[in-house]
Amino acid sequence: MESKDIVIAIDGPSGVGKTTVARMVADRLGLKAVSTGALYRAVALHFLRRGLSPENPEDVKKGLKDLNVHQEYINGEIRTFLNGEDVTDSLDTVEVSDMASRVAAVKDVREFLLDVQRRLAEGGAVVEGRDIGTVVLPDADVKIFLDASTGERARRRYEQLRAEGVNVSYEQALEDVKSRDIRDSSRTVAPLRRAEDAIYVDTTHLTVEEVVNRIIKIVRELVP
Ligand code: DC
Repeated sequence: MESKDIVIAIDGPSGVGKTTVARMVADRLGLKAVSTGALYRAVALHFLRRGLSPENPEDVKKGLKDLNVHQEYINGEIRTFLNGEDVTDSLDTVEVSDMASRVAAVKDVREFLLDVQRRLAEGGAVVEGRDIGTVVLPDADVKIFLDASTGERARRRYEQLRAEGVNVSYEQALEDVKSRDIRDSSRTVAPLRRAEDAIYVDTTHLTVEEVVNRIIKIVRELVP
């Protein structure tokens, strides 16, 4: 199989480094990277801007009507578009994060994004999220489940936010990771769980490069 046709699903909890790893794996294999979390965040931004509540079915209907969410992989960067506007730089706020986990619990939102995600994977891609190997792309060529201890994920989240100039404490990052774990795993619609045929990679004691090398090795073994 040509590298360009390979579909790689990377799932795992928040703060494990899925987006970074997906981009690096994509670049090594000449594929595009897709961040499905950013798609949920774009829907969340839309609901926030329009003052819509994901818990209100009428609002959900309004929110999904005439909504266009899209993603492109441009020069190694994942850019996310909301009705044609590049909103990538507005997606990493606490408000958007909170709203993203609320919209992600709504069945109609998940169905809406299912098609978007499948279309983005066409022709080969490294797709990261929570339910890629289980629901979105059950036939993916390679399925990886990335994990790390809660403390290590909080540390990574803390360092990422500090690097972006966001003023948070480690304790806040830890609370954020813990509360998102609870919301992601306990919701009834597509909770986070590992696909039976996903390869489990514990990244707690690995560097990003080591994680990427391990995934590339797995891909080479599974896709001759
Ligand atoms: O990975 P992230 O933090 O950007 O994801 C944002 C939210 O979307 C998070 O609450 C989990 C949810 N999500 C999901 O339910 N399914 C996906 N495939 C990707 C993200």
